[in-house]
Amino acid sequence: MYHDFNYEATLASSLRAQWQLDDVLGADQELDFSRNFMPESLARTAVLDTLNPFEQRILNQISAHQYLTIFGVVEEFILPFLVDHARPHLLGDDWRVRAILNFATEEAKHIHLFKRFHDAFVRGFPVECQMIGPSEAIGAEVLRHDPLAVGLVILMIEWMTQQHYLGSIRDDGDIDPLFKSLMKHHWMEEAQHAKLDTLIVDALAEGRSEAELDRAIDEFLEIGGFLDNGLKTQAEFNLDALEKAIGRKVENRDEIIAQQHQAARWTYIGSGMVHERFKATLEAISPNAAKRLAEVAPVFA
Ligand SMILES: [Fe+2]
Ligand SMILES: [Fe+2]
Repeated sequence: MYHDFNYEATLASSLRAQWQLDDVLGADQELDFSRNFMPESLARTAVLDTLNPFEQRILNQISAHQYLTIFGVVEEFILPFLVDHARPHLLGDDWRVRAILNFATEEAKHIHLFKRFHDAFVRGFPVECQMIGPSEAIGAEVLRHDPLAVGLVILMIEWMTQQHYLGSIRDDGDIDPLFKSLMKHHWMEEAQHAKLDTLIVDALAEGRSEAELDRAIDEFLEIGGFLDNGLKTQAEFNLDALEKAIGRKVENRDEIIAQQHQAARWTYIGSGMVHERFKATLEAISPNAAKRLAEVAPVFA
């Protein structure tokens, strides 16, 4: 076995790690717009030399708006996936039922937390930032795929939040402490979800032939391509918001869109795809699957 995760122990650590919304952000609490919100390793805004430092900060904050809404969107398809997955096993192993339902409850809480941050963002940011969506349509497109492919996408997302948290503590101390706290608290619970999702993926992969696993990887890549297209459109929306907020047109707009799209690829896809634990799961279910994803991973670096 490539891991020692089990439902009982993970439920116990989940219950110990649990927090409340107010521990992270109060309903009326304000963000500090004199600071960056995103770690530079994710936003990659400090390297844009055609923007002055103020403009770089505005774009960093727009990138944080993207973070809040993208996570809102993905958590919204994780929730029904979990409920669907729990449903057929309600009379089975009690630890499993409780662990998965608790996982779902925590994701519902994360959706709530991301909305609370989003509300605080909207209260303090000078212009409206457009978002891809609607989230229901994105969720429906993702969820129409093979549950194993969806489970793998979710597993990649759970593990990537570790990278985000590490980025937020390693990077400049200039980030709003509330965003650092968001990434820390999110990862604390995602660390448990990642274990549970590993068990879910193992179960979904069990008994499949190599050809069936290969098809699931095709579908995983299809979902990845769909999300990546969304990120490209989002990068364009982000530049629109930047230009509105700073009151001028940016001369190398297309170049910045491409650079910011790449930053988003790393944040929302690549940082999970190269996670050692994610790769270990792939390797265990199919070395061929691991090889295929290792080949595409550099696109999302
Ligand atoms: Fe979450
Ligand atoms: Fe999660």
